[in-house]
Formats: sequence, C-alpha cells, structure tokens
Amino acid sequence: MTGNELRQAYLDFFKTKGHAIITGSSLIPQNDPTVLFTTAGMHPLVPYLLGEPHPAGKRLCNCQKCIRTGDIDDVGDLSHLTFFEMLGNWSLGDYFKEEAIAWSFEFLTSHSYLGFSPESLFVTVFAGSEAAPRDEEAIMIWKKHGIPDNRIFPLPMSDNWWGPAGQTGPCGPDTEMFIDTGRAPCGPDCRPGCKCGKFFEIWNDVFMQYEKTQHGRYLPLKQHNVDTGMGVERTVAMMQGKSSVYETELFAPIIQAISEASGRRMPDNDEIARAFRIIADHSRSAVFILGDEQGIVPGNLGQGYVLRRLIRRAVRFARRLGMREGFFRPVAEAVIAAYSHIYPELEQNRGRILSELDKEEARFEETLTRGMAELDKVLQKMKESCQTVLPGKMAFRLYDTYGFPLEFTKEICREQGVGVDLEGFTSSFEAHRNISRQGVDKAFKGGLADHSEMTTRLHTATHILHRSLQIVLGDHVRQKGSNITAERLRFDFVHNAKMTPEEIRKVEEIVNDVIRKDLPVTVEQMTLEDAKARGATALFTTKYGEMVKVYSIGDFSKEVCGGPHVSRTGALGRFKIVKEEASSAGVRRIRAVLEDTSSIASG
Ligand code: SER
Repeated sequence: MTGNELRQAYLDFFKTKGHAIITGSSLIPQNDPTVLFTTAGMHPLVPYLLGEPHPAGKRLCNCQKCIRTGDIDDVGDLSHLTFFEMLGNWSLGDYFKEEAIAWSFEFLTSHSYLGFSPESLFVTVFAGSEAAPRDEEAIMIWKKHGIPDNRIFPLPMSDNWWGPAGQTGPCGPDTEMFIDTGRAPCGPDCRPGCKCGKFFEIWNDVFMQYEKTQHGRYLPLKQHNVDTGMGVERTVAMMQGKSSVYETELFAPIIQAISEASGRRMPDNDEIARAFRIIADHSRSAVFILGDEQGIVPGNLGQGYVLRRLIRRAVRFARRLGMREGFFRPVAEAVIAAYSHIYPELEQNRGRILSELDKEEARFEETLTRGMAELDKVLQKMKESCQTVLPGKMAFRLYDTYGFPLEFTKEICREQGVGVDLEGFTSSFEAHRNISRQGVDKAFKGGLADHSEMTTRLHTATHILHRSLQIVLGDHVRQKGSNITAERLRFDFVHNAKMTPEEIRKVEEIVNDVIRKDLPVTVEQMTLEDAKARGATALFTTKYGEMVKVYSIGDFSKEVCGGPHVSRTGALGRFKIVKEEASSAGVRRIRAVLEDTSSIASG
C-alpha cells in the first residue's frame, strides 16, 4: 500500500462509519499564540473539542500536515520526523472508547483495509495515577478484540496521557498502537515505546474524558471526545515491511535527489545514512513551511527561527556528504514534485521556496566564515599561552553564538594539534538546553488554543480591519496571514504600497465607527458555495460542498471562519494601529491593539 492509497483508505473507511471528511489546515496555527506550528490534527479543532458545534457534525476525519520539532535531535533514526502527515478521526461528544478501539482494530487488521496480522499488534494503555484510575475499560475492549494481556502494556501518565496543553482544560488517557517489526528485542526491557526500532508506534486514540482544573484536580468532563492520530509515513513503512520511514515511495525521490547531488548511495545504517535522513527530513519540513500560505521565511524568532534551524542543519549534513552550494534546489524540487498533487500550495509557491532556501544557505556560509575567523583568533591566543585544550565553554560559544558546528571545531583543532574539552561543551550545552527547553516545550505542545476574552475580541477586530482595508485601499486587499496574542493582532494582507498616514487614520476611523455602532455578530452554517454566493470572504481552500461557518458583523462584513467571536462589536474597546510595514513582496503587515473600553467613553 502506498501513501496515496493509505490516505484514501483511511478517509473511505471513516466515511463508512459516518464521518465527514474535512479539509486540513495551514501548518501555521491561526489565532493561536500558544504554539508555533500545527502539531496534530486535533489542533485546529480545539474550539469544537471544547463544545462549540462543528458545521460538519460530530464525527470528523481528515489528513493534516504537521510539524513537531521537539524531537529534532532524534531525527536520523528509523522513525522520527519533523514534518509528517497525520490521519485522524474525531468524535465530538458522540462515540467513545468502544467504537474508537473497535474501528482502529478493524482498520488495522481487516483485509479490506490494512490487513496487519492481529499478532503483530501491541498496545499501550494508561496505567493510572493520582489523577485518574487505570484505564480498565480500554484494556477490556482490547481483550474483547483478541489482544491478550501480554500484548497490552499499561504505562504511566508520561507515556499514555494527552493534554491539556495549557494549565487547564480537557485531557485524558490514550491508547497507542504499535506494530512489532519482528526484529530481535534490544534487551529484556524492550517493549512498545522503546527507541530501538523493534516496535513502531503508528496510531494513538485519545479519550478526552477529564478536565484539569486550576487547582490541579481532574474532574469528569461533560462532553466525551475522541481524538485520534495515525502517522502516514510510519504506517506506510510498516505496510511495506520496511525498517525505516525513509525507505518508502514517499521518500524515494527525495533520497534519490540527495544521492545524485552527493554522488553517494544511501547505506543501510550508519553515520552516512543518518546524514541522508536528516537532509531528507529537514528539507521536506523546510519546503512545507516555506510553501505554506502564511509566507514564513527564515528569521531569528518564532517559526522563522525553527525554519532557519532546519535549513542550516540540513546544510551542515549536506556538507558532510560533500554536497556543494545550491544542493537544495534538486532536493526541494523532488519534495514539490512528490507532494503537489495533495498540497498544491507547494507548486504555487515554488519560486519563493527555492529562492529562500538558496538565500539561507548563502547566509549560513557567511556565518561559517565568521566562526572560522573567531576560532583562528582563539587558537592563536592559545598558542601564545601554550594551552593545548580548547575550553568547552569556548566551543559552545562558537556553536551557540556563531552557529559554528562542533565537528568543524574539532576538525580544525585536530589539525592544529589542539584538543577540545567535550565534557565542558556538553555541560554548557545541557545547561543551555534546559533553559531553552522550558520555552520550547511551551511552544511545541500540541494543544489548546488561547481563547481568552482578549484574543476573542482581537479576532473580531481582525474581521472588521480586513473589511475596512478593502474599503480604504480597494477590493484587491486579501488576508495573507493572521496572528493574535493576548496583547495585539497582526494582520498580513495583499497590497503593494506603503499605507499613507491618511489611509491608516481612515481605517482606524472606520473600525472604531463599527465598534461604536455596537453591531451584532452572528453566525450561520452553510456550504462553502452558498457562503461565497452570499459574498462571504473565504480565506482557505475548503473542499467543494463542505459545510462552513459564516460570521457576519451587522451588514459590515461576512467571513468564513471557525470563530469564536464576541457577540457585539461594542465589547471591543478602542482600535489603534501601532505599526504598518512590509511583510514580503506585495504583502503589508499591520499590528494593532484594542485599548480599554473605558477610554472610548472619555474620547
Ligand atoms: N492528539 C493526539 C496525538 O497527536 C492524537 O491525535 O497523538
């Protein structure tokens, strides 16, 4: 079974179980400041998991492109990826454990679908903790389907519990499904979850049945949801009897391009194979991030920083394989060719993808040159004072501040007869990692969006701003991106000139006028075609016939959107544009805030 066939089989199967197929979302979460990337299919569905009705109903399924970089250091092994596709099915307060497990089992083992032998299937379940009891129900259901005790592993909260991403919210135990590859175990403790590659995790069913309160208690949740996620790359690898995700047709053209550009064949399993995998994975992720509609480019903050890190890491490993400047082009072309039939945005943004990769590679070359100069200086000083070991802190400074890779430092030092204090390097590295991990963990947790009152108000203000910009600048104005934190909104839109102070003032005036009129904000459900026929702005490519929600702000604006919004515009406060600047070619960016409502009365 190929990747294309798997996606189709999954969606077909869940359609027969009454699920509506919904479109996947952008890789960049909309209006959610708590995470940098879409990390799971459930992520864009958070409002519905919290109880808002979804226009397509209570049973949903789809294929979602995801980025997770929390495990970036594990990439290069047999199964970890920073970009992957996730197939998912959801119950929004509808079916629960019984059906979810029965359908997972049926899809995995039925000969009409994946046809895995039930003997190759191992599962883990929640073992229980102070928070909640052991998931006896899940254990019982698996047994009913013929999975014996010795293939059911109860594991602690750190393994078999999902959410909440924030401090509070819905969460619950999960059951994870693994395929036994048939290889020898790595030791007596080898079990599902072990990293040696014997067991491949391919699917996770989360049972959201608790709500974590502010006081850290877990209370039963009124609406029981199911949230599942199946990894496409891993499942296809298992279907094809491969030992790594890089050996299927999903990666073949990418590996081939790396092979041609480096003049090497990918060996089975060594440092060279690891370099091949890292280049393949990171290039694929970079192409998907650059190809996303939101127009992220390499930078020093947020998503741009993650993108930069992926590209530079790929360049580093490419140099190790002897690949020269410009190697990204054929590799990226291979990714675009392999995926454009499902993700047409890659083809549409081909120009930007290729040029940004080239530019970032060139910038990294400069960084390396600077790091080299710094290292030369340090070595000179060491020679003068007869030092023969480069302090670990210094190697780390070169790595951290100059982006100079440790192996380059080691190599150059070796040529000069100087050692490197690797232990010192590792302890500086760990100390730094612990500090930054706290931030990274926060940013990468798959999870619940921030639907605080302020972000909801800013979200409604974004709709009013969008329409006001069209009135002042013209109908060509179209949203290119939106990002909301509790402090401000950021709005990117198509327009190719700097806005004049007069235009900015006019836009502010219109927005504040709509706020003053206290217009009602209403929502209706309809098909995308109806929404368009009624003049609603629709931003993302949704499938033909799919039901959508349309939010209207009086007669002023009408947009297809998932919400949530305030119920009247009077709740917003005073709107103020704090910055207007270029975002990329032909795209402008506005940052705006809502000032306290009380100031409206006085002004
Ligand atoms: N949210 C769960 C996961 O990402 C199931 O989709 O594993």
